[in-house]
Amino acid sequence: MREVAVIGIGLTKFGELWDTPLRDLFAMAAADCLEDAGVGRDQVQSAYIGCMTSGMFVAQEHLASILTDYAGLKGIAATRVESACASGGAAFRAAYLEVASGASDFVLAGGVEKMNDGADATACLAAAADQEYEVFHGVTFPGLYAMIAQAHMAKYGTTPEQMAAVAVKNHDNGARNPKAQFQMEITKDTVLNAVRVAEPLGLFDCSPVTDGGACVLLAPVEVARKLGKPIVKIIGSGHATDTIALHDREDFASIPVVGLAAQRAFQQAGIGIKDVDFAEVHDCFTISEIVCTEELGIFERGKGGPAAEAGETALDGSFPVNTSGGLKSKGHPVGATGIAQICEVYAQLTGRAGDRQLKNPRRGLAQNMGGSGGSCTVHILEVES
Ligand code: COA
Repeated sequence: MREVAVIGIGLTKFGELWDTPLRDLFAMAAADCLEDAGVGRDQVQSAYIGCMTSGMFVAQEHLASILTDYAGLKGIAATRVESACASGGAAFRAAYLEVASGASDFVLAGGVEKMNDGADATACLAAAADQEYEVFHGVTFPGLYAMIAQAHMAKYGTTPEQMAAVAVKNHDNGARNPKAQFQMEITKDTVLNAVRVAEPLGLFDCSPVTDGGACVLLAPVEVARKLGKPIVKIIGSGHATDTIALHDREDFASIPVVGLAAQRAFQQAGIGIKDVDFAEVHDCFTISEIVCTEELGIFERGKGGPAAEAGETALDGSFPVNTSGGLKSKGHPVGATGIAQICEVYAQLTGRAGDRQLKNPRRGLAQNMGGSGGSCTVHILEVES
């Protein structure tokens, strides 16, 4: 396999973008990405585009063709990738493998979702849960994650205050991110006193409903070198699946698919979590960030909550998590999220993260998850010094 680098990124503003159609979200992100990479449209050979459920949100399918056409890339090989909220991560992995295999040199990995266009977002999202055993009985994603939170509280003593600390920290970071949906700081009281969504989760424990698009361009490391780009290599790519339904799992207080994907990425990279400086983690709900930091091995089981409350995951903490603001504050346009995470890791590694820049990070990790843990990708990126 060839070594592969990210050589450019592009990201739209995230939020309620009522005036921007789905195709424009992708075209804008692709244009910014190619300009950033300094690569012409005629050089792009292939694209993989993560999108969860454009058919339900905006009644548009056959997505890879229409999106590449409107992005000025008509004719290239293009594939839409779907793995619920992990669609972006899965698209990134497919693009990585195509470049690594030697089949193509310039491959675009994108993600897009238009969630605010009048469709019932909760019902669209619930399509990624088990219809017969979960959704027919009335449970949707906030309810499923509430069950995970209840189990984690019962098993490890995790508290609402610890979950609130995740939201406060992610809003602090999002306030420094001009692309974020919610660019405002909040207090713990705001989170704890917010309207209840599914006990113990309130409004500020939830990621929002978001429109947005993101793209990154991949190329072989030797090509990136010739272009004079900073060398940001993909050193580990892990992908795993699990049951969709929570009731088929042994322990609701864990999300095993995350550990499995991480193990595969670390094995390829030949390093462990202690060699990584920061991570973008799938915080679709505050409890999710806590559980995922434990599954990734950043903290021991049951210690993710206390660590968040102690500031360990803040920008100046021992292991910064979600410097972008995460899904909670930056927003969660489901198909785009996995690519947006890679954009943030790349920005941090190349010193382009503005007010939220970490001090000389060398390796960053992006963990993107589908549903309540039915699928997951983990990617580790390293900048050459
Ligand atoms: N965090 C903070 N504020 C939020 C918010 C969130 N997650 N979601 C909405 N708001 C704010 C809006 O900005 C709006 O504020 P305003 O009145 O000042 O303009 C207000 O709350 C009401 O917004 P609205 O869009 O009517 O909220 P809603 O009740 O329809 O939706 C949720 C709130 C929590 C139900 C919705 O965001 C949601 O479903 N989130 C989870 C998404 C999800 O499941 N993703 C997949 C994960 S696997």
